[in-house]
Amino acid sequence: MKIIDPKDVSVAEFHGLMLGAIAPRPIAFASTMDQEGLVNLSPFSFFNAFGSNPPLLIFSPARRVRNNTTKHSLENVKEVPEVVINIVSYSMVQQMSLSSTEYPKGVNEFVKAGFSEMPSQIVKPPRVKESPAAFECRVRDIISFGKEGGAANLVICEILLAHFKDELFDDQGKIDPHKLDAVARMGGNWYCHAQGQALFEVEKPVKNIGIGVDQIPEPIRFSMVLTGNDLGKLGNVPQLPLKEDIEEFGNRDEIREMKVRFQNDKEGLVIHLHQYAQELLHEGKTMDAWKALLQTTLEMG
Ligand SMILES: Cc1cc2nc3c(=O)[nH]c(=O)nc-3n(C[C@H](O)[C@H](O)[C@H](O)COP(=O)(O)O)c2cc1C
Repeated sequence: MKIIDPKDVSVAEFHGLMLGAIAPRPIAFASTMDQEGLVNLSPFSFFNAFGSNPPLLIFSPARRVRNNTTKHSLENVKEVPEVVINIVSYSMVQQMSLSSTEYPKGVNEFVKAGFSEMPSQIVKPPRVKESPAAFECRVRDIISFGKEGGAANLVICEILLAHFKDELFDDQGKIDPHKLDAVARMGGNWYCHAQGQALFEVEKPVKNIGIGVDQIPEPIRFSMVLTGNDLGKLGNVPQLPLKEDIEEFGNRDEIREMKVRFQNDKEGLVIHLHQYAQELLHEGKTMDAWKALLQTTLEMG
């Protein structure tokens, strides 16, 4: 491991390392307004949701590392404590990037980047028509962490009204991540497109209390075949299958054939059963995987 004390490197270097490793980060596309009514639109990936009652979002227009100047978005929310946080889909990414240009104060990045202003219903700044989702927010607090370049300014926002495009929803009324087609920020010039193989499901371990990896028998836990992800799935079952179910599973043709083929090679049998269990895990058949794995313990007596 490379171990770095932030005090031993420049702020710019540590900034780059943080952003490279803490990724992907969601992007708040923040629309704000100054007291003259001039509109500003800028992206911020120091951003996330922090609670839903009240619904809170925080983004951070930090002091520039390069020259310690402050962002217009920060100045605006100090003048008019309202913001619309728009979500960025892949179809918007190039224009969103253009909007991050350091245009002089008062320049409207909706216009420069070619986005359409939609009047908000509660707050003064407009929302981005092209965004799949947008949150009208009141700024509850701004917490600044110093006057040096790179210092964070946490803009704590309470959502007053949310807008979602109708086409985002699936049949159950949930937001379909494929339809959101979101982008996120990585380090340097890299972005992430939440689509295709980048999207996958992991069942939440909320329904039962899983046995935990520590309770997996050692010959399985220290398998030459199974990965950490496989062990995570195996540790998520509330209990092991019953002996009779394991025995019955042993009557499957695949298992019978393996037992015959490797009758004089216990190590080979273990490896093949673990490979078979891994396939079952990839198919989402966790209990069957357990039954395959526990054949070896039956076999070993
Ligand atoms: C995808 C993306 C994410 C960004 N995230 C941040 C951020 O979290 N904090 C920040 O201070 N600047 C961030 N920036 C840079 C600002 O958008 C940029 O400094 C912009 O000019 C600020 O505009 P303003 O002065 O009009 O507020 C980001 C830029 C891009 C393209």
